[in-house]
Amino acid sequence: MRNAPVYPPHIEQLKSYSPGLPMEDLARRIDMPLAHIVKLASNENPLGASSRALAALAASSIDLSRYPDNDCTDLTQALALQLDVPPDWIVTGAGSESVIGMAATTLLSAGRFTLYAQYSFQAYVNAAQRAGATAVVVPSPDFTVDLGEMLRLGARQPVSLVYIANPGNPTGTSLDPDALEAFIAAQADGTVVVLDEAYLEYLPAAARGDAVAWVRRHPHLLVTRTFSKAYGLAGLRVGYGIAQPALAGMLRRVRAPFQVSQPAQAGAAAALGDGDFLARTLAVNSEGHEQLCAAFRARGLRHLPSSTNFVSVETGDSAALAGRLEQHGLIARPLGSYGLKNWLRVSIGTATENSRFLDALAQELRPAS
Ligand SMILES: Cc1ncc(COP(=O)(O)O)c(C=O)c1O
Repeated sequence: MRNAPVYPPHIEQLKSYSPGLPMEDLARRIDMPLAHIVKLASNENPLGASSRALAALAASSIDLSRYPDNDCTDLTQALALQLDVPPDWIVTGAGSESVIGMAATTLLSAGRFTLYAQYSFQAYVNAAQRAGATAVVVPSPDFTVDLGEMLRLGARQPVSLVYIANPGNPTGTSLDPDALEAFIAAQADGTVVVLDEAYLEYLPAAARGDAVAWVRRHPHLLVTRTFSKAYGLAGLRVGYGIAQPALAGMLRRVRAPFQVSQPAQAGAAAALGDGDFLARTLAVNSEGHEQLCAAFRARGLRHLPSSTNFVSVETGDSAALAGRLEQHGLIARPLGSYGLKNWLRVSIGTATENSRFLDALAQELRPAS
């Protein structure tokens, strides 16, 4: 064929992101009312969005014919105040995934190395591959990030970018904060660490490090956070990074313009001040976590200790199981694409949603008689 596009090999080898099945698709497919579908596949907030965010969206007199404020000035100010950093330490983006991508665009290219743990969030894999960089994947035999092994394998070549999530997805496991800061401090010159804190709010306070203090101490650290999880605003697509101004400024240079729409900026700024919603979210999550884990224990199902809003559980062939759960109107995430084909990740829902999931699971895992 004439004029066929010729793609660079690293682009040709990319796999497109496979998100959780949309609820509407399943409702149509199994002919079930949308209201009966339960989606526990994308670690969204089962309480919906903060009412303050919704009120701010409704009350705003945003002119949709205008481009949004590229710098997200009000939201950035609100974040800077809450985090006690200057506004130029904050880089906003269309979800924290976008900021994760900006880090790769800024620091990676063909011939450069990036480092992340086995069972890491898919966005790191994709961002590195889009940049044409070489990834060094550090084994995680016990489903946590092995910081010592990461340092050892990282020392074999100059590493431009390390991705690390605390807590991690899809494992849900978390790291000791002192060990994590020591790991950040031990990086060679020229290595930037992205610390992805998408699930930070779910970490018990006693297990949390002060990543903003770490940013103050380490100019090679970028911390990413999101409004998609505990703040219940996944649909608005707002996330941000925190870094010292030199690194933050570089990310802003590569950022595509107008990433965060004006409604999203208003909603996120309002959600930031909604402490009640956050507290309710965490209470429902911790009850749901116990509800799910108690049922897994009772059935003898191995599951990973999670400090997030999901639990990964070993079920045997999880793709087949997820297919059967869909017939009950339930969407959960099989983890085959992470190399965990016997594991299913279930987001923690409301008590009712969790019960629906557990009842269906019990039916589908019952040995055939
Ligand atoms: C570990 C981790 N980081 C980042 C994200 C990206 O979230 P968002 O782009 O919605 O901010 C997710 C989403 O699932 C995640 O699991």
